[in-house]
Parts: sequence; structure tokens; C-alpha cells
Amino acid sequence: MKDSKDDYQKYRYFLKDSIRKTIDFSQTDQSRGVMAPPLEKPYSKDAEKIDLVMEDWETIYDISLVEAIKNRVSRRSFTKTEISLQDLSFLLWATQGIRQVAGPYAFRTVPSAGCRHALETYIAVFNVEELEMGVYRYLPLTHQLLVEFKQNDLRNEMITATFGQRFAGESALTFIWTAIPYRMEWRYGIDSHKVIAMDAGHVGQNMYLACEAIGAGTCTIGAYDQEYLDQLLKLDGEDEFAIYLAAAGKK
Ligand SMILES: Cc1cc2nc3c(=O)[nH]c(=O)nc-3n(C[C@H](O)[C@H](O)[C@H](O)COP(=O)(O)O)c2cc1C
Repeated sequence: MKDSKDDYQKYRYFLKDSIRKTIDFSQTDQSRGVMAPPLEKPYSKDAEKIDLVMEDWETIYDISLVEAIKNRVSRRSFTKTEISLQDLSFLLWATQGIRQVAGPYAFRTVPSAGCRHALETYIAVFNVEELEMGVYRYLPLTHQLLVEFKQNDLRNEMITATFGQRFAGESALTFIWTAIPYRMEWRYGIDSHKVIAMDAGHVGQNMYLACEAIGAGTCTIGAYDQEYLDQLLKLDGEDEFAIYLAAAGKK
């Protein structure tokens, strides 16, 4: 099917901020006094959790910023070396870690429009110290991992979920960032979706630079089977859905 000129105009509109002038911001849920959604997706009190490592990272990973920026490239082949829990803890801190909670705001290592941070981090774990193969979720408020589910054929599932991109299942781990759009919509209404995508870009760049610091490589992934991946992660695909991935492993 050939896309019409109207289609292009419609989709280019998403990249603009013209929509802002059409919104009555006095009517957003925040302005109307609706309670803010939780900073982190709630979870069952009985869920299995794993404590992550928190260190003075600069004393452990001392690569210069210039070196990290200079060396960063997308890497799609990895060694079979496992990733330590410390390395994983650092990647999670660098991409979504919270540096300060101030009332309803949680400031993180990455910026976010209106400090709304509408993303969650899931990790398909294949080869990480102390962790069984499965899908885990980062809990930034307590710097812990939540066990979502354990699954042995996860490598193949991730390759299928990325339309056959083998490195997504041949990595030591693959991050999957999901969006919970309401966290942003609560403040910005329908002017939320472009900035959620921009937020994910910052997370991706920190992932690249943090991987350089731990001697790992990464490649972010924007081409994936939306419905297949959402189902794999047991997401409803409406109020939460995958938006970006990154496979990583030691160089
Ligand atoms: C938003 C985004 C989506 C991407 N999606 C994929 C992907 O699905 N598969 C892939 O192999 N590379 C993907 N890449 C990596 C790009 O192909 C890569 O950044 C580009 O070729 C430039 O190479 P470099 O990162 O080494 O500079 C993606 C990069 C970005 C920023």
C-alpha cells in the first residue's frame, strides 16, 4: 500500500510541537487536582526481589567522558563472558537511577520532560552473575530488581520479538524500556508522546556511554514486533507498552 502525502504530513506532525497550542492545560489531570500516578509501577508485596549494588561508581569505572563518547559505536556481537551484578547495577543506575526524591518528583541520572519519567526498565537476562534466565524489572526507588518471570527459551523469544535480530538474544542481557504514558499525560495531556520518545533517547545514550565504562558493547533497537514483545512481557499494550531496547554484552 502506498502512503499518501496526507499520511506523511500526519506523521510529521508528531515531530512538531504545534499540538501544544491546541491544549487547554488548565484541564490536564494535574491542573484539575487528580492525584499523581506512582513514580514507579506498583508490584505485589510477595514478589521476589534482588538487591543491587550501589557504589561510588567513579572509583570503580574511571573511563573519561571524552573517551566514552569517542569510542561509542553500536556493537552487535558479544563475548560469552557473564555480566557481573555490579556491572548490571551500574547500567541500571546510569540509565534510570534516582538521584533525589523531592515530594512528587524523583530526579534521575537522565532528564525527562517535566520530570515525569514515564519509562520502566525490563531486562531479559541471559548471562548475568547470580541471576537465572528470565525477565526482571528495575525498581529505581529502592535500587532493586524484581523477578517478573523465569523462562529458559528466552533467547529465541527475544530474537523473534525483534524480527530475527539475533544479537537481541545472543547478548548477556537485553534491556527493554516500556512507556506508561499516563505518567506524562497526567501533566501534559496529549502533548506527551513526543517527549516520552525524546526521554527514551537520553536513556539510550546513557546506556551506550555506561557500556563503554564497563568494557561492554551495546546496540539500541527500534525495530521490534510490538504485539509479540508486549505479550512476552505480559503488558496490556495500551497503558504500558515497549518502546525501545538495547542488547549488551562484554566486548
Ligand atoms: C532509535 C534507534 C533505533 C535503532 N534500531 C536499531 C535496530 O533495530 N537494529 C540495529 O541493528 N540497530 C539499530 N540502531 C543502531 C543504528 O543502526 C546505529 O546507531 C547506526 O547505524 C549508527 O551506528 P553507530 O551507533 O555505531 O554510530 C538503532 C539506533 C537508534 C538510535
